[in-house]
Order: sequence, then structure tokens, then C-alpha cells
Amino acid sequence: MTSPNLLQTLDDLRQKGLRELEGATSVEGLEAWRVAYLGRRGELTAILRNLKDVPTEERREVGARANLVKGALEEALSQAEERLKAGRMAGLASEERIDVTRPGRPVAMGRYHPLTRMVREICDAFTAMGFQVVEGPEIEWDKYNFEMLNIPKGHPARDMWNTLWVDYKDQAGAQSMLLRTHTSPMQARVMEGSGGAPVRVVVPGKVYRYEATDATHEWHFHQVEGLAVDEGITFANMKGTLYEFARRIFGAERKVRFRCDYFPFVEPGVDMSIDCFACQGRDPKCRICRGSGWLEIMGAGMVHPRVLEMAGYDPGRYTGFAFGMGPERIAMLKHGIEDIRLFYGNDLRYLRQF
Ligand code: PHE
Repeated sequence: MTSPNLLQTLDDLRQKGLRELEGATSVEGLEAWRVAYLGRRGELTAILRNLKDVPTEERREVGARANLVKGALEEALSQAEERLKAGRMAGLASEERIDVTRPGRPVAMGRYHPLTRMVREICDAFTAMGFQVVEGPEIEWDKYNFEMLNIPKGHPARDMWNTLWVDYKDQAGAQSMLLRTHTSPMQARVMEGSGGAPVRVVVPGKVYRYEATDATHEWHFHQVEGLAVDEGITFANMKGTLYEFARRIFGAERKVRFRCDYFPFVEPGVDMSIDCFACQGRDPKCRICRGSGWLEIMGAGMVHPRVLEMAGYDPGRYTGFAFGMGPERIAMLKHGIEDIRLFYGNDLRYLRQF
């Protein structure tokens, strides 16, 4: 009584299964189909599992038919899978088609390092006043880093720059190499290379010092050097130029202060400060100026006659001014950054703020 019914059910199941399989065009569709027909709780599995309830004399035929159907469905499934795979590889499966009208995925924007931006901002302030930007070598001869800057061998002023020496000498053995301790050697190089003509340059670049690092010291950092040489250049020209620079970087309200300082290659030498843009000197606990009201931002001075002479200028005719500053320090003041090591830590949480 049950068997014709059961055989019919199996045939129906096979037909229905094959028909539905044609509609399954995605990986997910095929899997759902497999679960429905061949899975542990699928229709066919249920019939096979209940085979033991079928009367013995009919069990053989029903069982054989059930296995046949199962084989057919399995075969059809694997063919459907093959088709889908082939279609995919040809880029034809419907789910794989590219919808060109959909909006694109946003590309994460990169950005310049805060120091790169600071160095450019500084250089821009000077190019706007007619300075040219030039660069020079980081591995330098003693001659340019010291001697041509009026710091002969054995001069005590060498102690102002804790030097990293390079184990290399010129053929005569007279010249040592070092990692430049400041960008000032480019003063000598630019003057020497200009053949006695007027110059007006800024020199951004990296410098090195043999020094332990802490929140305000790095063993490598940057400087921007400046040099202007011509007939009739005065200390007033220097003050005007650097005042204009300070206003551009730190705001039009800035005041500047020049105090005597010593650098062997300038005479007179000064350090330049700006009034504290954060508290204007009013906050004794100011985080930026520590209550002093003034922020030192660079060294400067009139180019020493000896330096002009060594570089091929007649110091009776030519005068000039030079200055040097640290963009790390300027960026730290400007943005309230407390630790110089952050510039080289590669911490994106810090870098993304700029
Ligand atoms: N080169 C000096 C330093 O590194 C700075 C400086 C440059 C001072 C030019 C005066 C003129 O300390």
C-alpha cells in the first residue's frame, strides 16, 4: 500500500529537486538546495532513514529507488557547481557582475608628515621674500662643517657640536668626514660656488649630533639655514627679514627680541626670540614659555668677515647675515608638542592630527 506512494514520492522529489536546482545560480543558492534535499534533515534523507518502517517485501525496491534518486541529485549538484565555477571564472555569474553605477570605495588619503609641512612652511616664508631653496650633503668634510666657518681644528667652539665622525679621510689624510652637525656648512658651499656674486638662500636639511635623546633632544633632527650676502647688507636688514618670518609663522601680532649670542661664524651673533603667542607673557605657568614670556626660535648674526674671505668675498665690500633654526622646535612650539621623539615614532594616532 505504501510502496507505490513512496516510489511516486521519490520520483516527484527528484523532478522537483532538478527543477529547483536550475534556479540556483549562486554559491549560497546551491548550498541551500543541498541542505533541503541532501542534508541531514533533507527530504530524501528522511525517506532513507524511515526505510526500516517500510514492509520488508517492499523495502528493497524503495531503497534501490531512493539511492537512485540520491545519486541523480548528487550528480546534478556537482554539475551545477562546475557550471557556477566556470561561469565565475568567465566573470559571468550574476552575482559577480560589476555594477558600474555603484559609488566607489573611498580611498584612504595620505598626508605629509608634520615636519615636512613645517619645513615647507618655513621655506615658503623666505621664498616669498626672494630667497632660493638649496640643499646639501649630510655627510660632510670637516672643512665645511667647521674650518670654513671660522672653527679651526682644536678650536674650543667645536664642543658646541657633539660630532658623529665618519671613519674616512681624504687621500692626503688631512680631511675627516662627519655627519654634519648643522646646515651651516652650506653657507660656505653656497658662497664658494657663487663666484663672489650676491646670494640669498635657505637650506633645509637633516643634521646629526652625538647626543642622548630625551623629550627635547634627538641625535638627528632638521635645520633650516639662511644666508644673504650682498653689498650694503646691514643688521637692520636681518632684523626686518626675521621679523617678517616670525609674523608669517606665528601670527601678525608677534614681537621679536634679539640678544647677544656666540657663534664663531657670525659677528655680532644673536639669538632671536618671539613673545609667547600662547599667553603673551601673562601666564606664569604657561606650558609653552614656562612663564618667561619669550620663546627662542633661532640663532643668527652678521656673517663673520673671515668666513666671507675664506669663501672668496672681499669683506671690505660685501656683508651678509645668516641664521639657523630647528623646525622640530618651531613645530613643537606652534602645536604644543611636548616630546621631540614623537616626530620619529611613526605613531599614526599622533601623525593623523596634522
Ligand atoms: N648653525 C648654528 C647651530 O646649529 C645656528 C646658526 C646658524 C647660528 C647661522 C648663526 C647663524 O647652532
